Amino acid sequence: MNAGVGPAARTRAFRGTVFHFVGEAQSGPAERVAELHTDGLLVVRDGRIAQVGDAAKLLPSLPPGAEVVDYSGKWLVPGFIDTHVHYAQSDIIASPGEQLLTWLERYTFPAEGRFADAEHAREAADFFLAELLRNGTTTASVFPTVHKSSVDALFAAAKEQRMCIISGKLLMDRNCPEFLRDTAESGYHDSQELIERWHGRDRLHYAVTPRFAPTSSDAQLELAGKLVDEHPGVYVQSHVAENRDEVRWVAELFPWARSYLDVYDRFGLLRPNSVYAHCIHLDEQDRQRIAARDAVMSFCPTSNLFLGSGLFDYEAARRARAHVALGTDVAGGTSFSMLRTMHEAYKVMQLEGQLLSSFDAFYLATRGAAQALGLADRLGSFAPGNDADFVVLDPQATALLARRFARTETLAEQLFAFMMLGDDRAVAATYILGEAAHVRDGVTSSRARRQYA
Ligand code: GUN
Ligand code: ZN
Repeated sequence: MNAGVGPAARTRAFRGTVFHFVGEAQSGPAERVAELHTDGLLVVRDGRIAQVGDAAKLLPSLPPGAEVVDYSGKWLVPGFIDTHVHYAQSDIIASPGEQLLTWLERYTFPAEGRFADAEHAREAADFFLAELLRNGTTTASVFPTVHKSSVDALFAAAKEQRMCIISGKLLMDRNCPEFLRDTAESGYHDSQELIERWHGRDRLHYAVTPRFAPTSSDAQLELAGKLVDEHPGVYVQSHVAENRDEVRWVAELFPWARSYLDVYDRFGLLRPNSVYAHCIHLDEQDRQRIAARDAVMSFCPTSNLFLGSGLFDYEAARRARAHVALGTDVAGGTSFSMLRTMHEAYKVMQLEGQLLSSFDAFYLATRGAAQALGLADRLGSFAPGNDADFVVLDPQATALLARRFARTETLAEQLFAFMMLGDDRAVAATYILGEAAHVRDGVTSSRARRQYA
């Protein structure tokens, strides 16, 4: 073994306030399942969490020569997980004046048409991943476009960044412009080819991705279900019950279905590791069905407010015991920041007379999302053996956040200050597998240097 790559050289420790969830929020008061080390140490070996605990206890036991990165005064939390976002829509974020269906026609489809160009797709993928990292997001479930090359571009960029990304070619064979249309058969074969190329490679996961029921024929949805049956372990992602006009349209297109959700269920697309964005206009039976199938509701508050779609009923989802996680849904959503997303989720719930605690919000964006996606054995918490993807949050990031933080008295208030006043400015650094992938005030890693060159 070469000098300098022995066990000590592979160990790095990060000192700061360490906060994460060690159990499930539903199992009891969130306070009981969270772990806080005010002067803590996160010990990383070979990109994995080796130990977590109080600095005073762990520092003396580090191997000689282990590097200690001092983030005293800052917080170390697991990397955020965005369970629903569109990488091909960065260019049209903040496009005003429309609700879902006209917004798709007017802004989204033309923007996605540009992804037929592989070079454009690669440039957009690099921009998108940099934006995730700048916001502390280390894992995401991502919609590209209908083009195979858009998936290749995203996965290639994610592989370079060593990020855990879930994605898959959009399936859309009707009710969309010709330039974005595939066929049931071409969608099936292209997805198959992409699954073989990317699924399970490094930290990449394939998702069979019918855009939403209106843009897929019965034949295409049938083949989508077949794809999932033929490739155990792939994800499914789509949209459901976002907008009232959309729900009415689905009822016309699929008159045999009990509900919008029922369309997906009939084709075998409602299952574990299937992520459905929005889930607003559902009834109790739908919610029970999502829970029974072990599927995931992605709550996308900034999008739901921006597009005037409606208010996600978090309490009803919880009562049904369905998995819930958060999504930014850029570019229906207006921010890549999961802190901003928690903030808007809080406000949506206020409008419904519900309360989102800061514990719940952080849980949804970290361990809750990992659990929902079946990745909790690798992500979402600092359990030893997990991948060392984490965010460094800075309570001094802005004058206002610092001022509020100085007057907080409890952990709940501190977390609440981050989520209500924080955004990308509060992310001092983002680490992927124990290496800096984004540093707010400077650039340290070769990977990050390449990206910002
Ligand atoms: N439903 C179908 N496509 C989309 C999309 O691109 N964004 C959102 N928010 N909803 C959709
Ligand atoms: Zn979406």
